[in-house]
Amino acid sequence: MSDNRVQFGTKLGVIATTVGSAVGLGNIWRFPYEAGTHGGGAFLLMYIFFILVIGIPVICAEFIMGRGTRRNIFGAFRMLHSCRQWAWIGYMGIIASILILSFYSVVAGWTLEYFTQSLTGGIASMDYGVRNQSFDEFSTGWRPVMWTLVFLAFNAVIVLRGVRKGIEKASNILMPILFVILILFCVNSLFMPGAREGLEFLFKPDFSKVDSSVLIGALGQAFFSLSIGLGTMMIYSSYFSEETPLVKSAAMTASLDTLVAILAGIIIFPAVFTFDAEPAAGPKLVFEVLPDIFHQLPGGVVWSTLFFFLLFLASLTSTISMSEICVAFFCEQLGLSRKRAALLNTGIAMTLGTLCALSFGALNGFRIFGLTIFDLFDYASSNVMLPLGGMLISIFVGWFIDRNVVVAQLKGTGTIPGWFLRLVIFSLKYVAPAGIGLVFLAGLGVI
Ligand code: PHE
Repeated sequence: MSDNRVQFGTKLGVIATTVGSAVGLGNIWRFPYEAGTHGGGAFLLMYIFFILVIGIPVICAEFIMGRGTRRNIFGAFRMLHSCRQWAWIGYMGIIASILILSFYSVVAGWTLEYFTQSLTGGIASMDYGVRNQSFDEFSTGWRPVMWTLVFLAFNAVIVLRGVRKGIEKASNILMPILFVILILFCVNSLFMPGAREGLEFLFKPDFSKVDSSVLIGALGQAFFSLSIGLGTMMIYSSYFSEETPLVKSAAMTASLDTLVAILAGIIIFPAVFTFDAEPAAGPKLVFEVLPDIFHQLPGGVVWSTLFFFLLFLASLTSTISMSEICVAFFCEQLGLSRKRAALLNTGIAMTLGTLCALSFGALNGFRIFGLTIFDLFDYASSNVMLPLGGMLISIFVGWFIDRNVVVAQLKGTGTIPGWFLRLVIFSLKYVAPAGIGLVFLAGLGVI
């Protein structure tokens, strides 16, 4: 079966799809708001540190399992080890993917609202100076529910078209355009009166601010942003060809992803200080500040239309990757047709997504552990399930599977120096699991 599995067509396709999965609202919406609530510079530094010492090894582990077996997360664990309990990690990945898809679609829905507001010119009259009102008014109403459902419908259409055609084509063209626009916006922000203060906030670490919540936040953000710990990179790498160099692709995905997050930070924080916004405003931060940016930009309406359209597409390339986890599981393990699998996935996400959308309004009072449904889904998946999944995946690959499989996958059809191979394996065996374990212990207050 493995031989006639669909494969990505081109080299660019490989990197564009993994980057397409990684780059999305995680970089442009979640990174600035997490950095804003966790003190800026120190958060950024921890985040980059975690990407390097934990993120890249975990991506490699997922790639090894994915291409080594050409199966979804369940099939991969089953094929590589006789003990069936390992596959439980797969259940966690599937649950995490559904939780993320649900709250992510709400934010993607906000981008659709902003896109249409830009198209109709509404964004121009939006809230300059009365910033807090417009977003709050919108987000507490029913429109976000509608947009969440509309977004999930788009997502379903692309997922239904299958792996190669839908996903690959879209990401090849769109990601580079988004990148160019982000750079232009960065330049614009650098000329704002609050640029200095904003850049200091983002880049000057204040270590007195590092506590366990900063560590957990940065680790969770690293996992969320790289789309790891739940099987996304595993399922994508199961479509890689034998020639794809795994470590190089992992490093490339991580670098581009981090770069986009930093660009987003450079766009947002100068604006935050110029327009007197609150860096710790939480999930609404970016959506409150962006209209101000467009307001002062010549031709702002055109820029905002383009930007929100591309952000919507960047979100789609991420949500199709999370849907793929579930859909591949429903198809390959439960024997459903692709169509049924995609519909089931969409139905569940629409139900939970509606609850998340209402978390800002009608259901705001409904809290579990003091968190709204939206925040709970986000916290549980990003800060707990993904790092836990990543820890177990690296332990599995480092300690439990046949070393020949690991080496063969890392080498692929090329060569790789012995010391480098040993370094990757060392990271998988010790560094990544211990690093994640320590952050968890810090979070529990044990250390
Ligand atoms: N990495 C994506 C982003 O930054 C989100 C994502 C998380 C996608 C988990 C797939 C799986 O937007």
